[in-house]
Amino acid sequence: MRIKTFEAYQIAYRQSVEDPEGFWAEVAQQFQWRKPWKKVLSWNFNEANVKWFEGGVLNITENALDRHLAQIGNQPAIIWEPNDPEDKAVSISYNVLHDRVCRFANVLKKHGVKKGDRVCIYLPMVPELTVAVLACARIGAIHSVVFGGFSAKSIADRINDAECNMVITSDGAYRGSKVIPMKETVDAALDQCRSVKHVIVMTRTRTPVSMLKGRDLWWEEEVKHVDSVCAAEPMDAEDPLFILYTSGSTGKPKGVVHTCGGYMVYAAYTFANVFQYEPEEVYFCTADIGWITGHSYIVYGPLCTGATSLIFEGVPTYPDASRLWQIVEKHQVNILYTAPTAIRSLMSFGLDYVKGHDLSSLKKLGSVGEPINEEAWHWFKTNIGSDNCPLADTWWQTETGGIMISPLAGITHEKPTFATLPLPGIQPVIVDENGKEIEGNGVSGNLCMKFPWPGIIRTTYGDHERCKQTYFSTYPGMYFTGDGCLRDEDGYYRITGRVDDVLNVSGHRIGTAEVENAINMHLGVVESAVVGYTHDIKGQGIYAYVIAESEPEDAEMFRKDIAATVSRIIGPIAKPDKVQFVTGLPKTRSGKIMRRILRKISEGDMGNLGDISTLLDPAVVEDIKRGAL
Ligand code: WT7
Repeated sequence: MRIKTFEAYQIAYRQSVEDPEGFWAEVAQQFQWRKPWKKVLSWNFNEANVKWFEGGVLNITENALDRHLAQIGNQPAIIWEPNDPEDKAVSISYNVLHDRVCRFANVLKKHGVKKGDRVCIYLPMVPELTVAVLACARIGAIHSVVFGGFSAKSIADRINDAECNMVITSDGAYRGSKVIPMKETVDAALDQCRSVKHVIVMTRTRTPVSMLKGRDLWWEEEVKHVDSVCAAEPMDAEDPLFILYTSGSTGKPKGVVHTCGGYMVYAAYTFANVFQYEPEEVYFCTADIGWITGHSYIVYGPLCTGATSLIFEGVPTYPDASRLWQIVEKHQVNILYTAPTAIRSLMSFGLDYVKGHDLSSLKKLGSVGEPINEEAWHWFKTNIGSDNCPLADTWWQTETGGIMISPLAGITHEKPTFATLPLPGIQPVIVDENGKEIEGNGVSGNLCMKFPWPGIIRTTYGDHERCKQTYFSTYPGMYFTGDGCLRDEDGYYRITGRVDDVLNVSGHRIGTAEVENAINMHLGVVESAVVGYTHDIKGQGIYAYVIAESEPEDAEMFRKDIAATVSRIIGPIAKPDKVQFVTGLPKTRSGKIMRRILRKISEGDMGNLGDISTLLDPAVVEDIKRGAL
């Protein structure tokens, strides 16, 4: 299962294409199954139907916890570094984590949560977040983790879409110098939710919170009154494990569904191989568990591999921009997996914050979430990795469950800004606008997959048709990623970014349509169009063109009000960076906004806007150009 040389990679890759079922069966055998599968794979991309390890029965928590107890029960599963560096870090062994998960699973059961029920988790980066996630998995409840930066309305939409009957949250959260309310936000969300029967509240900041009798429960109190034995629920390989909402080019965020068997196999296989994890190494992924990176590479992948996974509550710039390097030194971190936006931000503070920290424990580096620019790649590699750590630029998506295209650390030859080669089992194809495969090297186009892998999305919760439409209909017979890419002369892949209306702002995925809908809800707004523009630190910034009912008297104030509305509807992460008031938008005769033009203007690229003869009123373009920010 573990690939140790580039030749072994090539052999594994070849085998995975020639005999995918044999290949994945061999990988899957390394895990603990209650009952073996009957069929490795059945699939039909036209119907968006994929099943892996059908008939197999397992529980992912037995693989993440129980399986390790005899050998490494006393080894830390989690090291938790709190927001405030003065507070004590906490180390939680596999034994203790197992105990805590079982207890909390019993709490969930006691309050009526059953296999198949949906549980919303809205927590800061505390160990309890991992405990809550695994406790759901223990009893077969489907978790839906909502990132702590989302608004009450976003939480409510997600709770209602999945009809969750339980919410797990905390009183508040520490984030850098701020204390952020959590329960209060959940309370506001629950005014719009009928399905929720109970809320379990963990104490973090001891912010005063309202606790409704009959509905709300304290975490600390509940875990006192339960047993520490909780048998794992036997799950079919294709039973859902979790729902994770993510933005697309249209409509509300979709609930991406991953299942127990295939997801486990894929998350753990890719973790072990990409990072070449060796026993006792300390692994630190800076993502939030509220995103897929955290699900797959803080919780499930590392724990199913018996790794030590460091969870950091705070932000890289608090108390100052040396925090990550302090953590690396303090906990002797061996593997650091972070995002280009974090690297660029820390870069901008200068090397003084890096100097004086002993980073010699680092052996491997990883990057994820967006294309990494050459400058950031070299800065990371040289100043953090001392030029002797391999750097894995890992490309993947919420929908893919795990890393798809990436170097294997120290094994694959690296090229700055290239995600390099597909992992075993992954069959990328580049297609042109018409869906025709572009073969050979030195080509570019849209990135698709022509064969399933165990971690592929199974459905969008409650709406399978939407899954089919979004991923499998653009190019029939293929899974479409939404990304553009190029394949160079060596067959190496470089991902160039989204080709649809999805933005990537500081590694957060945001749909332009969602932001437009939020802006349009603001009093006095007639219409808006949102595009992304190149931003030095965030990767992409949000540029909104807004038509107001009348010319705003105080444009600056109006901008702030719009930002407040977006914050309230979606969350602070979706606030526009720039708002330009316009009198019209460049529309075609059929009423479609020509975003291509708006994108160019937002980049300050006014010269050649291409063919604008199909516009209903080409004059608006001149107006917009004149007012560009
Ligand atoms: C989109 C998926 C996968 C975990 C975090 C994001 C972009 C992700 C890379 C990379 C270039 C990347 C793509 C992708 N992306 N990793 N290494 N190089 N682009 O998950 O929120 O589902 O976003 O992030 O555009 O489609 P996500």
